[in-house]
Amino acid sequence: MSNHQKIQRLRQLRAKSRQGGGEARIDAQHKKGRLTARERIALLLDKGSFREIDPFVEHRTTDFGLAKKKFVGDSVVTGWGTINNRLVYIFSQDFTVFGGSLGEVHAEKIVKIMEMAIKNGAPVIGLNDSGGARIQEGVVSLGGYAELFLQNTLASGVVPQISVIMGPCAGGAVYSPAITDFIFMVRGSSYMFITGPEVVKAVTHEEVTFEELGGADIHAETSGVCHVAADSEGDVLFLVQKLLTYLPQNNLEDPPFVPSNDDPLRMEEGLNAIIPDDPSKPYDIKEVIAMTVDNGEFFEIQEAFAQNIVIGFARLGGHSIGIIANQPAVLAGVLDINASEKAARFVRFCDSFNIPILTFVDVPGFLPGTDQEHGGIIRAGAKLLFAYCEATVPKLTVITRKAYGGAYDVMSSKHIRGDINFAWPSAEIAVMGPDGAVNIIFRKELAEAKDPVKRKEELVAEYREKFAHPYIAASRGYIDDVIEPKETRPRLINAIEMLSNKRDTNPPKKHGCIPL
Ligand code: HXC
Repeated sequence: MSNHQKIQRLRQLRAKSRQGGGEARIDAQHKKGRLTARERIALLLDKGSFREIDPFVEHRTTDFGLAKKKFVGDSVVTGWGTINNRLVYIFSQDFTVFGGSLGEVHAEKIVKIMEMAIKNGAPVIGLNDSGGARIQEGVVSLGGYAELFLQNTLASGVVPQISVIMGPCAGGAVYSPAITDFIFMVRGSSYMFITGPEVVKAVTHEEVTFEELGGADIHAETSGVCHVAADSEGDVLFLVQKLLTYLPQNNLEDPPFVPSNDDPLRMEEGLNAIIPDDPSKPYDIKEVIAMTVDNGEFFEIQEAFAQNIVIGFARLGGHSIGIIANQPAVLAGVLDINASEKAARFVRFCDSFNIPILTFVDVPGFLPGTDQEHGGIIRAGAKLLFAYCEATVPKLTVITRKAYGGAYDVMSSKHIRGDINFAWPSAEIAVMGPDGAVNIIFRKELAEAKDPVKRKEELVAEYREKFAHPYIAASRGYIDDVIEPKETRPRLINAIEMLSNKRDTNPPKKHGCIPL
């Protein structure tokens, strides 16, 4: 074979590899409103930056007639490229080849780029579109998944891992994303379930659609599995690009600094007026966030799940921060099981990747009741406590209104290594709210009072006067300063810059035992 022929052969093989499962299957993919594996990569990465590896890998299976059914490159495209000029590793499962199912070589290809990502310190993005373990390869494909789960776990806390669900994902195809840091889904065309509707019907006799069982909305609102849901593949990939702007490349780097044209000394008069005079009236904590951070930009995570707590990324004076905020507009901002777990996981992500944490506190306490107790609020609340206690990144806290009971301790209090803790004059810091406290400590007096309603009103007013303010906590140094709401932004930016060289550690250990 001449050298020219050898080059021709390479070109032919490469063209074949780029064809995936062939034209008919590509058409079928497009008819479902979905892009192909390569089209998705092209849309996500900087133009022309993708460098593929392993395009000539083929499966080694002979069972079920597979010896005659080979596709150059198999069912996943892998490599690296850049997003906004920053390196990322990427794999994109090709549904046109065996339904994107994962066999031995598919797993090997992903594991190879994950090992590179860990060694070279850059995020891994997985574009998932897969029927799970390749049935024809039997236990070999299960082994492949297990090796992938291991890499996901080893990479956890070393490089950010982002999973984008782009089609129907079942079995192992949901457990690998579940170990990663963020799951993005596309409404109406991406699904996650451990087994599909047919198996559900056979086992439980339940009739359920793809959408009802594992669509983006269900996972965004009910299960909490999905962190960000979007309306189209283009939108979802744009949001992945956006998320990356807040994250460092790996755990040894600080997150990128993005200079802001928003005045760091900006006073926000609107904040002085946002807390209602009546402490039982709600307000929207997202307005507080928007008025405080650079240009009002907030990248919210798990927006539709456990809305009584708000989490997400923003910038303060150009510095990337993670925000955790009780939401008084939903369930009075109470901490329940879902809110505790949502926030705990986010705190741990930020701490893993050197992202300072800003906590806005307005919380009446943990939600009481048998539902919560039997569901494990003790275990869930302990996760949040543990996460805040072990976090060593800069921690800033602003108590806007209520900080009652255990929830005061949990929400990044001074006692658990909050670095700078501010309170607004409207802060109420006590063991419990005036009503509950009076019922307990004056039970006997109220029972004997001539006019118990009037007496209770007096006692509640007395209690409020005595405890429902920030100055007892401030007199003990539990609050570093009581600030006017309007000066929140400049004070926080100053604090974050003051803390920029913060170094804090935990005692040497293999790892803690967070109450999972
Ligand atoms: C081999 C598979 C496959 C699989 C799909 N295909 N899943 N091939 N192994 N797991 C093939 C189909 O045979 C078909 O090939 C092509 O992909 C497209 O599939 P369709 O069914 O035609 O597509 P669609 O109707 O869109 O349905 C997609 C789907 C469905 C929902 C993903 O295919 C499905 O339910 N697959 C099985 C899902 C599952 O139960 N996986 C769990 C595996 S166990 P042809 O040639 O006919 O077009 C597992 C455990 C791992 O993953 C360990 C976990 C801890």
